[in-house]
Amino acid sequence: MKLVDAIQQRRTVRGFTDQIIDDDTLNRLFTQAQQAPSNCNTQSWKAYVVNGERCRQLADSLYLHVSKGNAPSPDFGFMPTYEGIYRDRQVVCAHTLYSNMNIARDDKPARMAALLQNYQLFGAPHVVFIGMPKSYGIVNAVDIGIYVQNLLLVMTSMGIASCPQGALGYYPLVVREHLDIDDEIGILLGISFGYEDTEILF
Ligand SMILES: Cc1cc2nc3c(=O)[nH]c(=O)nc-3n(C[C@H](O)[C@H](O)[C@H](O)COP(=O)(O)O)c2cc1C
Repeated sequence: MKLVDAIQQRRTVRGFTDQIIDDDTLNRLFTQAQQAPSNCNTQSWKAYVVNGERCRQLADSLYLHVSKGNAPSPDFGFMPTYEGIYRDRQVVCAHTLYSNMNIARDDKPARMAALLQNYQLFGAPHVVFIGMPKSYGIVNAVDIGIYVQNLLLVMTSMGIASCPQGALGYYPLVVREHLDIDDEIGILLGISFGYEDTEILF
């Protein structure tokens, strides 16, 4: 696939089949994405990939934890409060998503249920958590963003659907219960991925 086609075709997908991606494809995906530029070639991203049954167990833990109303404790802080044109775009994004799901603006329980789907990984059989050293800041976050875009575009070129999720950076303690993550590494986000379930219309 041409790069420009991958850029055009990549989109956030929020519905996956349970079909597992084979190991050879996973290895090629992460090897290719690794070819990303970074400050002083430090490559300061960490990628924790969870597949199949372990992925679903992790999703169940996250979903249960968030459903109970536990407070988030992100390693790198919360999203800013968006204002002006950025707030406008955020509102349009949420409105488009909820109307595609047939959820009315004032239907708070349905909106909460939709939000919680983040923690079911939208049904994906794979997730990758992306981290970097907790002491690092915005300079390194630029590198991480470039690496994440590489991952998303390589996935697209392989016919793999993806959903980057800042929401998956909000409960790192639950993620740590399932994965061996060094104390000095913080989690920035997660990407749910797999094959798209085209029956799910959002
Ligand atoms: C860093 C980042 C965090 C995101 N977090 C979430 C999230 O928590 N949940 C979600 O459903 N979508 C999330 N998205 C997807 C965005 O909503 C999506 O990229 C945006 O609306 C543009 O749509 P597109 O990706 O289909 O082009 C995130 C995207 C990025 C890049």
